Amino acid sequence: MLQALMWCFMEILMSLRPILIHPDPRLKKACPPVADITDDLRRLADDMLATMYDAPGIGLAAPQVGVLTRMFVMDCEREDAGKNPTVVINPEITWSSEETGVYEEGCLSIPDIYEEVTRPERIRLKFTDETGAEREEEYDGLWATCAQHELDHLNGKLFIDYLSGLKRTLITNKMKKLKKERARA
Ligand code: NI
Repeated sequence: MLQALMWCFMEILMSLRPILIHPDPRLKKACPPVADITDDLRRLADDMLATMYDAPGIGLAAPQVGVLTRMFVMDCEREDAGKNPTVVINPEITWSSEETGVYEEGCLSIPDIYEEVTRPERIRLKFTDETGAEREEEYDGLWATCAQHELDHLNGKLFIDYLSGLKRTLITNKMKKLKKERARA
């Protein structure tokens, strides 16, 4: 019984993966597509969802946990609306609106930094889900912003790449300092 409980506890602990902090070369790489939806990939998706909810965040891309493959997870449901964990594999934007929206974005790889980014307000996203089913969903508002932010991660692009060079440098220096502090702690 005790052993079973300990295993259960271990499983919970094991499912959380460390999130890479910018700057890291793995966050600047374009990721190759997923070839097969294996048990390992599904395990990674589960771990990423657990890590994202624990952080807490609304989106997390595979390269942020050091795995260079085209998959991200997101859940932009408001807290009172229940959970809507979404696994997105090999995503492709098939349409985006001319109308744009401005959101204050943040990123789990760039903690405590929030900056306004302008992106298309609505998109259609074609992707494969964790069951292997092909899906095409239309997203707007926060879901659209989040999906575009996460897809950028799969192409080695961060939201700070939309900011001025000066702002980006200031943020990058802040993150270097944070990483040093964390390494010392
Ligand atoms: Ni991010």
